[in-house]
Amino acid sequence: MDNPVHRKVFIAKDVMSFITLPNFNSENIVSTSSILEAVTDNIPAGKDSPLFAVLFLTVNEFDNVFYFFKKYKYSDLIYKVILFDTKGTLNTFSDEKVEYIMELRTSNLSVIEFQFTIRKAFHQIENYYNFKTRKDEFLLQLLDTKQDQEDLINIGKSLQLEKDPDKLLRLILFLSKKITGADGGSIYLIEELEDGKKQLRFRYSHTFSKEIPLEEFVIPFDKNSIAGYVATTGTVMNLPDVYNLPPNSPVSFNTSIDRIHGYQSRTMLVVPMKNHIDEVIGVIQLINSKEDLQGSSKISGNEAFEIRLETHEDFNTKVVPFEERYNSLMEAVASQAAIAIENNRMIKQIQTQFEEFVKASVAAIESRDEATSGHSFRVAEICKHMARAVNNEKKGQFKDMQFSDVEIKELEYSALLHDFGKVYIDLAIFMKGKKLFPKDFENVMLKINYLYRIIELHFAEWEKDGMNRALDPENKSLTINDFEAERNKKLSSIKQIRDKIAELNEPTVTDRDPKEILADIMKIIDETCCLDMDGNAIEVIDAYERENLGIKRGSLNDEERKEIESHVIHTYNFVSKIPWPPEFKNIPEFALKHHEKLDGTGYPNNLKGKDQIPIQARMMAIADIYDALTASDRPYKKAIPPERAISILEEEATRNKIDPDLFEIFVRYKIYEKISKDDYRGME
Ligand SMILES: [Fe+2]
Ligand SMILES: [Fe+2]
Repeated sequence: MDNPVHRKVFIAKDVMSFITLPNFNSENIVSTSSILEAVTDNIPAGKDSPLFAVLFLTVNEFDNVFYFFKKYKYSDLIYKVILFDTKGTLNTFSDEKVEYIMELRTSNLSVIEFQFTIRKAFHQIENYYNFKTRKDEFLLQLLDTKQDQEDLINIGKSLQLEKDPDKLLRLILFLSKKITGADGGSIYLIEELEDGKKQLRFRYSHTFSKEIPLEEFVIPFDKNSIAGYVATTGTVMNLPDVYNLPPNSPVSFNTSIDRIHGYQSRTMLVVPMKNHIDEVIGVIQLINSKEDLQGSSKISGNEAFEIRLETHEDFNTKVVPFEERYNSLMEAVASQAAIAIENNRMIKQIQTQFEEFVKASVAAIESRDEATSGHSFRVAEICKHMARAVNNEKKGQFKDMQFSDVEIKELEYSALLHDFGKVYIDLAIFMKGKKLFPKDFENVMLKINYLYRIIELHFAEWEKDGMNRALDPENKSLTINDFEAERNKKLSSIKQIRDKIAELNEPTVTDRDPKEILADIMKIIDETCCLDMDGNAIEVIDAYERENLGIKRGSLNDEERKEIESHVIHTYNFVSKIPWPPEFKNIPEFALKHHEKLDGTGYPNNLKGKDQIPIQARMMAIADIYDALTASDRPYKKAIPPERAISILEEEATRNKIDPDLFEIFVRYKIYEKISKDDYRGME
């Protein structure tokens, strides 16, 4: 037995006449008329040193003793009673009471009987005490194990949920300190250098009782430091006193850190963080396990980590060695932490790879047209700025709206991919700056030039014949002047046709309907009698060319416009095939709706109003128009200065095409200034 035990025999005065005492005066035998007082006086003050008492009592006295001790629950008193009853009242005793009675006497006790009775009573008491202590210890162990298991399960769950690497380290250390009641702790992570050598980086540290500034530093990956030793050997170190390490200890404690920070490290538990393939990836170092030994009840682990160590006395009385059971428990925690850190790293790596892949793909598509290069990246940047600006709003329309980091990422991906579907569309249509494709326009011009030459040739022939005719006195009908006037008229008609077609080919909006202008041209063509060398009629402008030259607005005919507009459907179909995680599920939808207009005139679905068009798509619409307008000059389109682009957008807002509130944010936060038209150009 570890604790001091007090054994005493108490004999009530009334039963003394029944007992023959041995022939010596033991100080452990107390004979008294006040049994209760004598027993309570003898209960030791300190805990964990019980009083074993054998009581010789009458029935009445036993009643008193029993009720008193039951009421006040003297946990450190264990007693047995030898009861003297000569009146036969015992039948009324309850089972609870009977448990304390070791022997019932109705007659005298001889010396030998007295001594034997006492030995037997103490033996019984001791057995009972040992049984009870073991049972208590076992129960406590069971409770500890249960608590440890619950802690481990909860730690596993919470570590899996934390996605932010810094927050994860903080959480690991917090939980480790909480479990072990540690006052402070640090996390080191192993990093591999380019030459394959390793080093330990001090990544995070926190001490409950002392604010110690955190600075990252590295220590060599060798056995010279405590953390280094644990990292290289993969073994747990539980050091009960770092200032008095055993002479054969493989490590030494660097006292300078304590001196610098005015702290006293006493006890330490250092565990390796091993991943799923048993490889050490870091170390958790815990300092000063605490227990409030002076307090009313012993607290450890979960509650003790919040005990503040302030005075030297606190360090002496409240810091205790880390319990041995924490070695394996912390090993398990550290390994959960290692797996969480590695998962975190892997997720980050996959994310980075994916992001790089998306950006490379977008850059590749945009490189098809030098002039639009960087468009999607700039749109994504503008969208991110707009979302952050909305987050910043403290009043008004957007005061309750907050985009989380994940939602901003979702918007960014969607914006990066918004025009991805253009890869499916003939580049020539995008590049089409005039109503006719260059080759078609050239073809028309060739026909006109040919006609011009033919007419010249015809007149040259007629001129030759005319000369002959002029020599013929019979023929006075055609003078030289008439002849030249006729030729000039025809040639100037051809020139007129050429100029009018060139003019009509421009996508500028004219006052007159292009179809009317085209009708005029056709009339001139008809009057000009366009025949080839063999006298067959030449179709100067065919049906296809007529259709295109007749375009009222811009340079695209209906079919081409539809094809360009289909890029949002292609984007949607392509982006929907990517198995996005749930938090990115809206990416295809936002991208699909970036050309919808609030008044329902957009495409592809003529959605109307803020309910049908998500805010992310409305942001993208503003970013998209602004960048398309201000993007660099292209062969078919002039860049517009930012001020002009903003006034165009303003008009769009007034006409309920784009979201006026978002446009207001775009202007007020000067988001356009944050992006230059040359940003992200030629990204590859
Ligand atoms: Fe688009
Ligand atoms: Fe776009």
